[in-house]
Amino acid sequence: MRLAAQFSTAEQKRLLKQLPAFPSPDDLIAGTGPWEVELGFGKGKFLLRSALQHPERRYLGIEVVSKYYRLLDRRARRQGADNLMVVRGEALYLLSTVLPQGFASVLHVYFPDPWPKQRHRKRRLFDSETVDLVLGLLRPGGRLFFATDFLEYGELVYDLLRLYPGLTLERREAPWPDGARTNYEAKYIVEGRPILRLEGHLAADATVGSLHPEGVPGIVAAMAARQEDGS
Ligand SMILES: C[S@@+](CC[C@H](N)C(=O)[O-])C[C@H]1O[C@@H](n2cnc3c(N)ncnc32)[C@H](O)[C@@H]1O
Repeated sequence: MRLAAQFSTAEQKRLLKQLPAFPSPDDLIAGTGPWEVELGFGKGKFLLRSALQHPERRYLGIEVVSKYYRLLDRRARRQGADNLMVVRGEALYLLSTVLPQGFASVLHVYFPDPWPKQRHRKRRLFDSETVDLVLGLLRPGGRLFFATDFLEYGELVYDLLRLYPGLTLERREAPWPDGARTNYEAKYIVEGRPILRLEGHLAADATVGSLHPEGVPGIVAAMAARQEDGS
């Protein structure tokens, strides 16, 4: 098999045209309401409840574990949540290949895996390599909700996001007004664990796909590190 880099640009364009286009989520769900997206929904409590409470909005959930994907898909169909679409897949892959920039009016990320070991950090949903991809999903005027119990990671995400162009970021000192949103949050509240919650608002005149100042140096540093450790 030839690698992409071995094809000329003209060949690549010709081959890409032969691929079937991914259907847009807009074509798969009826309605015209704004999209809210949750990455890594786990058992899907937040998405299902929100979709049932707000039939005027549309919800898209992305989850990499098949068991959770099937659980929420089954529950959503059983309860008639026709405005909820669930996709099994790796969020960063789907963001870079399927979802258009500026697609979501609200983005939810609750208790993402913190990957504390140094060698696993490149899997994090938020870091300097991925922040442009993830935040690029938000349309101008959109909102971001984030929570974690892994405070060290939360502080890094806070530091990273507050430099994102056009994003106003606040730490929430109190729980969400609607209570525990997800299973992890409910469990951690009962255990009395501290939780770091962030709420971001992208300016209405922000440019879709703005680049974070750390984005490019982050990618260059990551590529160099990967070459060194051979991954
Ligand atoms: C710690 S759990 C939190 C689940 C849920 N958000 C909650 O708060 O209850 C993290 C979830 O994210 C999913 N996940 C982790 N990395 C992912 C990725 N790159 N793409 C999609 N899902 C991912 C995991 O499978 C897991 O269900």
